[in-house]
Amino acid sequence: MAQLTPAELQEINRFLDAGKPLPDKYRFLLFEDKREVELVWNGKTNEVTNAVLPFQVIEQVDEPRAEVDTKLQMSMFDVDDRGRQLKGWQNKLIWGDNKLILSSLKNGPLREEIEKQGGIKLIYIDPPFDVGADFSMDVEIGEDTFTKKPNILEEIAYRDTWGKGADSFIAMIYERIALLRDLLSDDGSIYVHCDYRVTSHIRQVLDEIFGAENLQNEIIWSYKSGGVSKSSFARKHDTIYFYAKDRRNYIFNTQYYKSYQAKKYNYNPNYPEIWDEEEQKWYHNSICRDVWDDIKVIGTETGQGERLAYPTQKPEDLLVRILSASSNEGDLVADFFSGSGTTAAVAEKMGRKWIASDLGKFAIHTTRKRMIGIQRELKANGKDFRAFEILNLGKYERQHYVGVNENLRLEEQQKQVEAREREFVGLILNAYKADEAEGFKTFQGKKSGRLVAVGPVNVPVSRLFVEEVILECRQKHITKVDILGFEFEMGLFPNVLDDARSKGIDISPKHIPAEVFDKRAVGKGQVLFHDVAAIEIKPLVKKNSIAIELTDFSVFYSQDSVSDAEETLKDKKNKIVVEKGQIVKVSKDKDGIVTRQQLTKVWTDWIDYWAVDFNFENKREIIRVKNEANGEWEEIWTGDYIFENEWQSFRTKNDRSLELTSVAHECASGTRKVAVKVVDIFGNDTMTIIDVTIGGKK
Ligand SMILES: C[S@@+](CC[C@H](N)C(=O)[O-])C[C@H]1O[C@@H](n2cnc3c(N)ncnc32)[C@H](O)[C@@H]1O
Repeated sequence: MAQLTPAELQEINRFLDAGKPLPDKYRFLLFEDKREVELVWNGKTNEVTNAVLPFQVIEQVDEPRAEVDTKLQMSMFDVDDRGRQLKGWQNKLIWGDNKLILSSLKNGPLREEIEKQGGIKLIYIDPPFDVGADFSMDVEIGEDTFTKKPNILEEIAYRDTWGKGADSFIAMIYERIALLRDLLSDDGSIYVHCDYRVTSHIRQVLDEIFGAENLQNEIIWSYKSGGVSKSSFARKHDTIYFYAKDRRNYIFNTQYYKSYQAKKYNYNPNYPEIWDEEEQKWYHNSICRDVWDDIKVIGTETGQGERLAYPTQKPEDLLVRILSASSNEGDLVADFFSGSGTTAAVAEKMGRKWIASDLGKFAIHTTRKRMIGIQRELKANGKDFRAFEILNLGKYERQHYVGVNENLRLEEQQKQVEAREREFVGLILNAYKADEAEGFKTFQGKKSGRLVAVGPVNVPVSRLFVEEVILECRQKHITKVDILGFEFEMGLFPNVLDDARSKGIDISPKHIPAEVFDKRAVGKGQVLFHDVAAIEIKPLVKKNSIAIELTDFSVFYSQDSVSDAEETLKDKKNKIVVEKGQIVKVSKDKDGIVTRQQLTKVWTDWIDYWAVDFNFENKREIIRVKNEANGEWEEIWTGDYIFENEWQSFRTKNDRSLELTSVAHECASGTRKVAVKVVDIFGNDTMTIIDVTIGGKK
């Protein structure tokens, strides 16, 4: 430690006695580990979470679309007689906050599976660097576009990222990058995509975590399209930082680009000049530099076909270059801010294995459709493709989300959580017009002869939560229950409700609308708690086959109200609102005359995608949990089944049609459970299960 002068020692004592923070200069005098340059922000700690939460597989897609009597030819893997992948790595699409996903991957049982594949060789991330980027989504309805506001979980993530401006963004990215480094294999690399708004911060964070000496390139991806400003030079590039985990040992395959020439020069036979038929120009292959100007953004003439309705989607060509340079066929690559799934899509096409995650349900759903599309294409061309599974984090930890001040001592944090919880529950019960109830573990209110359980604000209502409700019902002979939640875990319904019904408990799950936070709406009694979406299906049974017809689907969402829009709209403007499951366009003409047009005309307008599992109880959901007594990982059955996506129909940007009857699926005689999953145009999914008997036998 540097020698402190007596005056400095006195000064330090004075500050400490007065309980005041020390002046900045002491940071460099008091601590041994002095970095020459370091990024410091309000609330900086070097602590990184090590929480391990269990992953749940909620869906498996191992064949793009089973047609009757079709068996897949997959040479790369072991498959059963239905073409299912039985062994080997399954790609992973994970829904949830990447902080907990990363720490669970790093410290949990999946790590072993990852290491068996040789570890993660390449990570590409494209975090939300557009300051203030939120989770709003544009959803197309016929000719119109409706902007879906972020849901409550997305709002919380947004607050974590941008709530305190640059401070919170850096804190968010610092912890993720530290976790990413730990997950990378020793010969792995990371590419971080950003732009001028955050480059300075991200570079510092990467230098600190990866070491400045491991920076391989600062890649400039420049493009021409998009708007330009006249008051400064047009901003037409993004930056991609490429770091190796260890500069002495990392994968790198030299890349070449087409360097066009004015004419053929006949220079040197070792550097052949090639004629490009499409461009009608001569070129030679030149080693790629760190400025990439040959890759067009999505939406320009070449990228058009790729475009999905995802605003920050990056071009596949960009990922092709990155994956070609820093991974080899069969390697595992990952993207933890995956958006529309560009990294996963390119990985699948290039024979890499992949892990992708995103917090947005819409992102996960966009990726699901995109990957199925790619599987279909690969299958049609007789090529290999891998199964993928969709997972989420089963049991969340509240403290990670609610925005508790993590600088407080543990018991203070606990008090803060409890106070917030009480406040939150009071608010919800008031809006639901329920009375408070005491003496229960899981219920906080009662209304019209039913007990009311309020789900957490910060995370979806999980299976664990519902199981605790059922347990208390059984202990206390309770038979009628409402569960209120902002979000329900994917794949939760309907089996958990059937399970409760078989025990004589009637559970009615209801969505808490975002307006509960709006005092005016609560005061006017306008807040409506809607039932979760409902699906109706009809089995079409022939001798030894079943097909499924989708006959009805209803949702009960609201976002804004028609009367509010009518009051607040300016002349010659229009607004699209969702009220009680109907999408309505409210317009005002130049004289202030209001018209309403219902955009959702038929129930199918709400459906974006649906899928069938013809034998739902075929595949049990197994998770690995640590046995605290002996420290070993053990496999246990959760009591649930994995939805195996065997047939599906969905809308794409270019093809808006939807089939309502599946193909017929051959199966053995007997009774089986058939599950149908519907994903609505907002990316929310609902499932129903029915018993079907084939061959007349029970
Ligand atoms: C810029 S977009 C990525 C776009 C992507 N490269 C593509 O080609 O579609 C950033 C994504 O990060 C996701 N995101 C933001 N915060 C997150 C978090 N904490 N955990 C997981 N995903 C997050 C957002 O939902 C968004 O989809």
